[in-house]
Amino acid sequence: MKFFVDTGEINEIRELAATGMLDGVTTNPSLIAKSGKQFIPLIEEICSVVTGPVSAEVASTDYETMQKEADKLSKIAKNIAVKVPLTEAGLKVCRNLADKGIMVNVTLCFSAVQAILAAKAGAAFVSPFIGRLDDIGQDGMQLIADIRQIYDNYPNFKTEILAASIRHPQHVLMAAKMGADVSTIPASTIKALYKHPLTDKGLAAFVEDWKKTGQSIL
Ligand code: E4P
Repeated sequence: MKFFVDTGEINEIRELAATGMLDGVTTNPSLIAKSGKQFIPLIEEICSVVTGPVSAEVASTDYETMQKEADKLSKIAKNIAVKVPLTEAGLKVCRNLADKGIMVNVTLCFSAVQAILAAKAGAAFVSPFIGRLDDIGQDGMQLIADIRQIYDNYPNFKTEILAASIRHPQHVLMAAKMGADVSTIPASTIKALYKHPLTDKGLAAFVEDWKKTGQSIL
């Protein structure tokens, strides 16, 4: 499973890139607003830090303007994945970009039939939002399972399932079990993946016992 970080904070991206665990980055207009940074220079900087796909989202909702924004974003760097909403206009833009070999991340996917449309439009990624479905009492993880089953029925669908709106490590675990190709995860949740109380307890005991030997490896 690939890990993308879902953030607009360049310091978080730099820190995670240094761990060797980071396969890409997703942003959205809310995360850009939270960062307080200028969108285009920020995306340029992220693309200089990360070699994997960097999702940059269009801001318009009408086809013509969205296409112009998408064309501009796609030229920022080779590893840009233009992010478009799962709407009729968004999927038209997706088709146009995919035909030119440009990666597209179709976002705001909340149903399996929407995911079929994204695959038919040639999306590199479809982003089903797990947490937001859970928030309204639906089963976000079932959506991942449904999309996996459908995509596996049609080998001509090349779209990767990018589990999004992930809120905690259990979401990452379940998305992996369901066969999502990628999880996009907040930095704090990626850090939480390392943690287990028995790891901390076991390490403390090993450190103490090693001291008793009086030895040094170096
Ligand atoms: C996906 O690309 C989105 O940026 C993100 O995962 C949304 O997550 P949220 O529901 O926590 O805002």
